[in-house]
Amino acid sequence: MDPTRLSRSARALPVLDSNETRSVALAQRFRALTLFAESPDAAKAARDMAQTTFRDWGLHSRAGDARAVVSELIANVVQHTTPDECLTKPGAPRRIDVAFRSWPKWTFIEVTDEDSSPPMLPMGEVFSPALVGDLPEAVLPDSGRGLLMVQSLVDALWWAPGEQGGKTVVCRFDLGSDRLGNGTHEGGE
Ligand SMILES: Nc1ncnc2c1ncn2[C@@H]1O[C@H](COP(=O)(O)OP(=O)(O)OP(=O)(O)O)[C@@H](O)[C@H]1O
Ligand SMILES: [Mg+2]
Repeated sequence: MDPTRLSRSARALPVLDSNETRSVALAQRFRALTLFAESPDAAKAARDMAQTTFRDWGLHSRAGDARAVVSELIANVVQHTTPDECLTKPGAPRRIDVAFRSWPKWTFIEVTDEDSSPPMLPMGEVFSPALVGDLPEAVLPDSGRGLLMVQSLVDALWWAPGEQGGKTVVCRFDLGSDRLGNGTHEGGE
């Protein structure tokens, strides 16, 4: 297998029609935060809110995962987005909306930005760490791993285009799934 395939090609995350996203509008519990990508405090504010929200809602074992997921999704907005022209003026700060919604069986984290271009997962086969040996830099790409990390921490990951432009990346945590209680990221700074 050619290891460079991991970084040379990519596939989009699954996409949902924006009509379907309306069905998640009414949640039992809901919190939201609006940030600007240019703010140096944006990622920390989002991380802290993710952790606090999950703990307040009794999802202690997933609070660290939520924190890591939000951190990566905010970093992606900061690094990769150019707002759609119809949504903003050139040079204006880029808006990020972070929302948390919860039902008895699921909790969703949604990160909305003003760029309608899709997030892309790298294509290729996942390496076994055992095969990497002593030279991980020879076969592992320097970037393009963030969404794979997110995918490994959540029960489902997809994105949906906004009706007026932009998009939302959505993570679903299934309460009571095998992953519950297996949080790999403990809370903390
Ligand atoms: N919010 C976003 N808007 C537009 N494109 C995105 C967004 N998030 C991710 N992408 C695209 O998907 C690709 C993969 O994202 P991913 O987070 O996996 O890797 P990365 O950010 O390039 O590197 P890493 O996270 O490993 O530092 C990015 O390179 C970018 O092209
Ligand atoms: Mg990334």
